[in-house]
Amino acid sequence: MSESKVYPVPAAVTEHALLDRRQYEQMYQRSISDPDSFWGEQAEAFLTWFKRWDRVHYADLHKGDIRWFEGAKLNVSYNCLDRHLATRGDQIALIWEGDEPDQDKRITYRELHEQVCRFANALKARGVRKGDRVCIYLPMIPEAAATMLACSRIGAVHSVIFGGFSSNALRDRILDSDCHVLITADEGVRGGRPVPLKENAERALAECPKVDTVFVVRRTGSDITWTDGRDIWYHDAIRTATVDCPAEPMDAEDSFYILYTSGSTGKPKGVLHTTAGYLLQAAMTHKYIFDYHDNEVYWCTADVGWVTGHSYIVYGPLANGATTLLFEGVPTYPDASRFWQIIDKHQVSIFYTAPTAIRALMGQGDEPVKKTSRRSLRLLGTVGEPINPEAWEWYYHIVGEGRCPIVDTWWQTETGTIMISPLPGATDLKPGSATLPFFGIEPQLVDNEGNIVSGPGEGNLCIARAWPSMMRTVYGDHERFLNTYLTHYPGMYFTGDGARRDQDGYYWITGRIDDVLNISGHRMGTAEIESALVLHSAVAEAAVVGYPHAIKGQGIYAYVTLIIGNAPSDTLRQELIDLVREEIGAIAKPDIIQWAPSLPKTRSGKIMRRILRKVAANELDNLGDTSTLADPSVVARLVESRAHQ
Ligand code: WT7
Repeated sequence: MSESKVYPVPAAVTEHALLDRRQYEQMYQRSISDPDSFWGEQAEAFLTWFKRWDRVHYADLHKGDIRWFEGAKLNVSYNCLDRHLATRGDQIALIWEGDEPDQDKRITYRELHEQVCRFANALKARGVRKGDRVCIYLPMIPEAAATMLACSRIGAVHSVIFGGFSSNALRDRILDSDCHVLITADEGVRGGRPVPLKENAERALAECPKVDTVFVVRRTGSDITWTDGRDIWYHDAIRTATVDCPAEPMDAEDSFYILYTSGSTGKPKGVLHTTAGYLLQAAMTHKYIFDYHDNEVYWCTADVGWVTGHSYIVYGPLANGATTLLFEGVPTYPDASRFWQIIDKHQVSIFYTAPTAIRALMGQGDEPVKKTSRRSLRLLGTVGEPINPEAWEWYYHIVGEGRCPIVDTWWQTETGTIMISPLPGATDLKPGSATLPFFGIEPQLVDNEGNIVSGPGEGNLCIARAWPSMMRTVYGDHERFLNTYLTHYPGMYFTGDGARRDQDGYYWITGRIDDVLNISGHRMGTAEIESALVLHSAVAEAAVVGYPHAIKGQGIYAYVTLIIGNAPSDTLRQELIDLVREEIGAIAKPDIIQWAPSLPKTRSGKIMRRILRKVAANELDNLGDTSTLADPSVVARLVESRAHQ
C-alpha cells in the first residue's frame, strides 16, 4: 500500500480537546505498565459504585476466566440515570428523530428515569428476576433504550434482536437465551415502509412455548393479533406500574447482556458481557474518543440491535450524562439530504456512522450535503468496516468541510467497546487507518505459525491482554468461546481480522481472515446463509463468499449446485432469495446466485473458498494453485458457468 496522506491535528482542535498527544502517550504508557492503578482511577472517575472492588482485575486467557472489579457493586441504570438527576434532571437525555422529518421527541433525564423505573416494576410484576433473560425486538424508538435500561435496573439480562431479523432468527435467539419475556412493537417504520414486528414475533412465538409475557409498544397503531393474558401494551404497563424502583446492586461480574453475532461456523453465538468493566469502558471511550463535552448533542446512526447501538447510543453516552440522538429512519428518506438536515435541526456536534452510508451518500453527489449548514458539527466518526480513502476524503472535505477530525474506530461485538481509534486532539490522521490503540489495549500482529511480528508488518490481529469490556463467554457454551477466540494463539485474544502496522505504529485493518462477511457493516456468517440455501429441496450444495461491492463493502455471492433433475430458473432464484430472507432476514439476501455445476473441493472434501472468492471477484487470471483439487477441471467449468449467468 502506498504511503497515504497525513492530516495533522489542527491546533484549534487540540486546544479544545480533552486530551492532547502527550497526555495520550502518558496515559497509554501507564495503562500498560501499571494497569491496576490506571483502571482503578478511571473506575473512580467515571462510575458511581455502591461498593468498592477488592481487586481491579484477574485474567486467565487460557481458561477464559476474566474478572474486573471483583467484589464491587453497582448498577448500570443508576449510573446512566439516577446519579444525573440532581445536576441534569431537566437536560435532554434522548432526542428521538422519527422516520418522517416532522416527527420527533425530546426526553429529559428525569422523564427517562421515571419511564425506566415504571417499566422495571412492570417487568418485576411479570416475574422477571435478577439474572432472567429478556428479549427485545424493537424498532429505533425511545422505548428501545428505556427497556434496555429497565432490564439493567433489576439485573435482568437483555438480548436485543435487530428489528431487521426474520421470525426464524428471532425464534432461534429466544430459544437460545431461554427467556420468558419478549418486548416488541406493533410495527416499525423505516424509509416510509412498515416492518411487521408483532407479526414476525407471533410466528417466532409459535415455537417458543416458554414465553409467557409479550410487552407491545404501540408505534403505528396497525391491527395486530393479540393473546389475552400474554400480551400487554407497554403504555398500559408503565401507566399502572409504580414509579419507585430501587436499582438492584449488581456484582461487577454479573451478566449484563447477551448479543448474538455471526461467526464462521454454525449458528450465531450469544456474546455475553458483564456489568462493571463494560460500562466503564463504554463511558471512557465515549468521552475520550468522541471528545464529548457537556451539553453537546451526539448522534450515532447505528441500530440498537447491534453492539454499536448498545455502547454508543445508549450506555456510553448516558453514563456520561450526554444528549444522545436516536434516529428511526434511513439515510436516504425522504431524500439523500436527511442526515445533514437532522444535524442542522438538532444542532449535532458529533456524528458517528458507517462507511457504507458514507459511500451510498457520496454516490448522490455533493449537492444534498452542501445545501445544509452543518456548522454545529465538530467531530465525525466511522465504524463497522474498513473505510476506503476515497470515502474518507469525501466525508472529511465535503461533510466536515475540512474542520472536523474523523475517528475511524475499530472494534467488535466481542470487544464491547472501541479498541483502536484516533483521539481527536491527539492523533494525526491517515485516511483508511484506525490508527492507535485505546488505553489498556495491547494489539499484537501474529503470523500463521504464531510468531509475533514486531515493528512494521502484517499479520493476524490479536490482543495480548484482557481489557475491562471484553466478552466473558459465549452464552451457554464456554468451549465455543475458548475455541473461537482463545486457542488459536494461546494467551491472546484472536480477533479474526488481519491488520498491517506501519512505521508510525498505526494499524490498518485489512478485513476478516475467516469466513465472516461484512455486508454494509453487518456481520454475516457464510455458514448461516449456506444452511438457509440448502433447505430448498432443489439444492444439493451451496457455498457463499463475499465479493467487492461499491457501496456495501462486500456483497454476497452464492454458488448453488442443484440436485439432478432440477433446472436453474428465475423462479428458483427468487425462491432461494426468499428462503434466506425468511431464515435470517433481508440483510442476508445473496446479491448474486451462480448456478454451479459442481464446487471445487480438496481430496478430503473441503470446499476451496479461495478459488470461489477469486471467481466471484472476477479475478480469473489469478486463481492460484489448483493442483490440490480432487478434480481440477471443476474450476474451468465454474468459470465457464459464470460467463453464462
Ligand atoms: C468486525 C466486527 C463493532 C462495531 C460494529 C461491527 C470490522 C469494525 C472497523 C473499522 C475496519 C472494522 C472488523 C471487525 N470492523 N470496525 N473501523 N475498520 N474494520 O461489529 O458486527 O462485531 O463486526 O467489523 O472486521 O472484526 P461486528
